Amino acid sequence: MTVRFILDGETIELTDVDPTATLLDHLRYKMGRTGTKEGCAEGDCGACTVLLGEADAGGGAVAWRAVNACIQFLPMLDGKALMTVESLSRSGSLNPLQACMASNGSSQCGFCTPGIVMSLYGRCIGASGGISAVLVFYALQFPRAELGFMFFLYWRLRWFYIPAWVALVLWLLMQMFGVYTQLHGFSNVAATAHLGGATVGFISWWWWTKSQRQALAS
Ligand code: FES
Repeated sequence: MTVRFILDGETIELTDVDPTATLLDHLRYKMGRTGTKEGCAEGDCGACTVLLGEADAGGGAVAWRAVNACIQFLPMLDGKALMTVESLSRSGSLNPLQACMASNGSSQCGFCTPGIVMSLYGRCIGASGGISAVLVFYALQFPRAELGFMFFLYWRLRWFYIPAWVALVLWLLMQMFGVYTQLHGFSNVAATAHLGGATVGFISWWWWTKSQRQALAS
Protein backbone atom coordinates (compact mmCIF):
# COMPACT_ATOMS: atom_id res chain seq x y z
CA MET A 1 0.00 0.00 0.00
CA THR A 2 1.25 3.48 -0.91
CA VAL A 3 0.31 6.59 1.05
CA ARG A 4 0.97 10.17 -0.05
CA PHE A 5 0.49 13.26 2.04
CA ILE A 6 1.88 16.77 2.35
CA LEU A 7 3.99 17.76 5.32
CA ASP A 8 5.27 21.34 5.56
CA GLY A 9 4.81 21.87 1.82
CA GLU A 10 6.64 18.67 0.80
CA THR A 11 4.96 15.61 -0.64
CA ILE A 12 5.80 12.52 1.39
CA GLU A 13 5.32 9.15 -0.25
CA LEU A 14 5.37 6.00 1.85
CA THR A 15 5.42 2.60 0.22
CA ASP A 16 4.65 -0.83 1.69
CA VAL A 17 2.72 0.80 4.49
CA ASP A 18 1.48 -1.42 7.28
CA PRO A 19 -2.24 -0.53 7.45
CA THR A 20 -2.21 -0.90 11.24
CA ALA A 21 0.76 1.48 11.78
CA THR A 22 -0.24 4.64 13.60
CA LEU A 23 0.69 8.16 12.57
CA LEU A 24 2.07 8.76 16.06
CA ASP A 25 4.57 5.89 15.82
CA HIS A 26 5.55 6.92 12.32
CA LEU A 27 6.17 10.52 13.38
CA ARG A 28 8.18 9.60 16.46
CA TYR A 29 10.11 6.54 15.34
CA LYS A 30 10.46 6.96 11.57
CA MET A 31 10.52 10.72 11.09
CA GLY A 32 12.13 11.86 14.33
CA ARG A 33 9.26 14.28 15.03
CA THR A 34 9.30 13.63 18.75
CA GLY A 35 7.52 16.89 19.58
CA THR A 36 4.30 14.89 19.21
CA LYS A 37 4.02 12.99 22.49
CA GLU A 38 2.46 9.70 23.46
CA GLY A 39 0.31 9.79 26.57
CA CYS A 40 -2.63 7.43 26.76
CA ALA A 41 -2.22 6.00 23.22
CA GLU A 42 -5.98 5.57 22.98
CA GLY A 43 -7.32 8.95 21.90
CA ASP A 44 -8.16 10.39 25.32
CA CYS A 45 -5.43 12.77 26.52
CA GLY A 46 -4.59 14.85 23.42
CA ALA A 47 -0.80 14.80 23.97
CA CYS A 48 -0.39 13.52 20.40
CA THR A 49 -2.53 16.20 18.71
CA VAL A 50 -1.57 17.14 15.13
CA LEU A 51 -3.47 19.00 12.42
CA LEU A 52 -4.86 17.27 9.36
CA GLY A 53 -5.87 19.34 6.34
CA GLU A 54 -8.31 18.36 3.63
CA ALA A 55 -9.39 20.31 0.54
CA ASP A 56 -13.00 21.44 0.77
CA ALA A 57 -15.65 20.12 -1.61
CA GLY A 58 -14.79 22.76 -4.24
CA GLY A 59 -11.10 21.86 -4.05
CA GLY A 60 -10.25 25.40 -2.94
CA ALA A 61 -9.49 26.15 0.70
CA VAL A 62 -7.93 23.57 3.00
CA ALA A 63 -9.95 22.84 6.12
CA TRP A 64 -7.71 21.95 9.07
CA ARG A 65 -8.80 19.95 12.10
CA ALA A 66 -7.01 18.72 15.18
CA VAL A 67 -6.77 14.93 15.44
CA ASN A 68 -5.11 12.47 17.81
CA ALA A 69 -2.17 10.91 15.97
CA CYS A 70 -2.31 7.80 18.17
CA ILE A 71 -5.60 6.70 16.62
CA GLN A 72 -4.87 7.75 13.03
CA PHE A 73 -3.64 4.87 10.92
CA LEU A 74 -1.23 5.80 8.15
CA PRO A 75 -3.62 5.00 5.27
CA MET A 76 -5.99 7.64 6.71
CA LEU A 77 -3.44 10.29 5.71
CA ASP A 78 -3.58 9.57 2.00
CA GLY A 79 -4.30 12.71 -0.02
CA LYS A 80 -4.24 14.99 3.04
CA ALA A 81 -1.91 17.59 4.52
CA LEU A 82 -0.31 17.31 7.93
CA MET A 83 1.11 19.78 10.47
CA THR A 84 2.98 18.77 13.61
CA VAL A 85 4.22 20.99 16.41
CA GLU A 86 7.58 21.21 14.62
CA SER A 87 5.78 22.80 11.65
CA LEU A 88 5.09 25.90 13.74
CA SER A 89 8.72 26.84 14.34
CA ARG A 90 10.49 25.87 11.15
CA SER A 91 12.09 29.31 10.92
CA GLY A 92 14.02 28.53 14.10
CA SER A 93 11.98 30.78 16.36
CA LEU A 94 8.81 30.09 18.26
CA ASN A 95 5.44 30.67 16.69
CA PRO A 96 3.78 33.74 18.35
CA LEU A 97 1.26 31.39 19.98
CA GLN A 98 4.08 29.35 21.55
CA ALA A 99 6.00 32.49 22.54
CA CYS A 100 2.89 33.92 24.15
CA MET A 101 2.31 30.71 26.13
CA ALA A 102 5.94 30.60 27.24
CA SER A 103 6.15 34.26 28.26
CA ASN A 104 2.91 34.05 30.23
CA GLY A 105 3.80 30.84 32.06
CA SER A 106 1.04 28.89 30.32
CA SER A 107 3.07 25.79 29.48
CA GLN A 108 2.77 22.77 31.71
CA CYS A 109 5.20 19.89 32.24
CA GLY A 110 6.02 19.86 28.55
CA PHE A 111 4.46 16.49 27.83
CA CYS A 112 0.97 17.71 27.01
CA THR A 113 1.94 21.27 25.98
CA PRO A 114 2.60 20.39 22.28
CA GLY A 115 -0.90 18.94 22.04
CA ILE A 116 -2.41 22.05 23.66
CA VAL A 117 -0.47 24.27 21.24
CA MET A 118 -1.70 22.32 18.22
CA SER A 119 -5.32 22.41 19.40
CA LEU A 120 -5.10 26.18 19.92
CA TYR A 121 -3.33 26.73 16.62
CA GLY A 122 -5.98 24.68 14.81
CA ARG A 123 -8.67 26.97 16.20
CA CYS A 124 -6.76 30.05 14.98
CA ILE A 125 -6.48 28.97 11.33
CA GLY A 126 -9.14 30.73 9.31
CA ALA A 127 -10.43 32.61 12.36
CA SER A 128 -9.09 36.01 11.25
CA GLY A 129 -12.52 37.21 10.03
CA GLY A 130 -14.00 36.58 13.48
CA ILE A 131 -10.95 38.11 15.19
CA SER A 132 -11.44 41.24 13.03
CA ALA A 133 -14.99 41.55 14.32
CA VAL A 134 -13.82 41.29 17.93
CA LEU A 135 -11.04 43.85 17.37
CA VAL A 136 -13.43 46.41 15.87
CA PHE A 137 -16.04 45.92 18.60
CA TYR A 138 -13.41 46.23 21.33
CA ALA A 139 -11.69 49.30 19.83
CA LEU A 140 -15.00 51.14 19.43
CA GLN A 141 -16.13 50.28 22.93
CA PHE A 142 -12.80 50.89 24.69
CA PRO A 143 -10.86 53.27 22.39
CA ARG A 144 -8.33 54.29 25.08
CA ALA A 145 -7.54 50.77 26.26
CA GLU A 146 -3.92 49.74 25.65
CA LEU A 147 -3.50 46.80 23.29
CA GLY A 148 -0.29 44.78 23.29
CA PHE A 149 1.24 43.45 20.05
CA MET A 150 4.19 41.14 19.80
CA PHE A 151 6.83 41.79 17.12
CA PHE A 152 10.08 40.12 16.25
CA LEU A 153 12.72 42.85 16.59
CA TYR A 154 16.50 42.63 17.01
CA TRP A 155 16.29 38.84 17.19
CA ARG A 156 13.81 38.89 20.05
CA LEU A 157 10.06 38.91 20.43
CA ARG A 158 8.99 42.20 22.03
CA TRP A 159 5.69 43.65 23.17
CA PHE A 160 4.45 47.07 21.97
CA TYR A 161 1.42 48.81 23.44
CA ILE A 162 -0.79 51.32 21.63
CA PRO A 163 -4.32 52.66 22.28
CA ALA A 164 -7.08 50.57 20.77
CA TRP A 165 -8.29 53.39 18.49
CA VAL A 166 -4.77 53.75 16.99
CA ALA A 167 -4.62 49.99 16.45
CA LEU A 168 -7.98 50.13 14.70
CA VAL A 169 -6.91 52.91 12.31
CA LEU A 170 -3.62 51.14 11.47
CA TRP A 171 -5.39 47.86 11.04
CA LEU A 172 -8.02 49.39 8.68
CA LEU A 173 -5.26 50.95 6.55
CA MET A 174 -3.48 47.59 6.39
CA GLN A 175 -6.68 45.83 5.33
CA MET A 176 -7.34 48.36 2.56
CA PHE A 177 -3.84 47.75 1.25
CA GLY A 178 -4.52 44.01 1.67
CA VAL A 179 -7.69 44.24 -0.43
CA TYR A 180 -5.69 45.99 -3.16
CA THR A 181 -3.03 43.25 -3.19
CA GLN A 182 -5.67 40.52 -3.02
CA LEU A 183 -7.72 41.92 -5.91
CA HIS A 184 -4.58 42.36 -8.04
CA GLY A 185 -3.40 38.84 -7.35
CA PHE A 186 -0.27 39.73 -5.32
CA SER A 187 -1.54 38.10 -2.17
CA ASN A 188 -4.00 35.42 -1.15
CA VAL A 189 -4.53 36.81 2.38
CA ALA A 190 -8.29 37.17 2.80
CA ALA A 191 -8.40 40.95 3.45
CA THR A 192 -11.95 41.13 2.10
CA ALA A 193 -12.96 38.53 4.69
CA HIS A 194 -11.26 40.70 7.36
CA LEU A 195 -13.27 43.73 6.27
CA GLY A 196 -16.43 41.62 6.26
CA GLY A 197 -15.65 40.58 9.84
CA ALA A 198 -14.97 44.24 10.71
CA THR A 199 -18.39 45.20 9.35
CA VAL A 200 -20.01 42.56 11.55
CA GLY A 201 -18.06 43.96 14.53
CA PHE A 202 -19.21 47.49 13.76
CA ILE A 203 -22.88 46.49 13.38
CA SER A 204 -22.70 44.45 16.59
CA TRP A 205 -21.17 47.39 18.45
CA TRP A 206 -23.79 49.84 17.09
CA TRP A 207 -26.64 47.48 17.98
CA TRP A 208 -25.22 46.80 21.45
CA THR A 209 -24.69 50.49 22.34
CA LYS A 210 -28.16 51.32 21.04
CA SER A 211 -29.78 48.64 23.18
CA GLN A 212 -27.71 49.80 26.19
CA ARG A 213 -28.94 53.40 25.71
CA GLN A 214 -32.55 52.21 25.43
CA ALA A 215 -32.17 50.13 28.59
CA LEU A 216 -30.79 53.15 30.51
CA ALA A 217 -33.57 55.44 29.24
CA SER A 218 -36.36 53.09 30.28
S1 FES B 1 -1.64 9.77 23.25
FE1 FES B 1 -3.42 10.36 24.34
S2 FES B 1 -4.80 10.97 22.78
FE2 FES B 1 -3.07 10.20 21.71
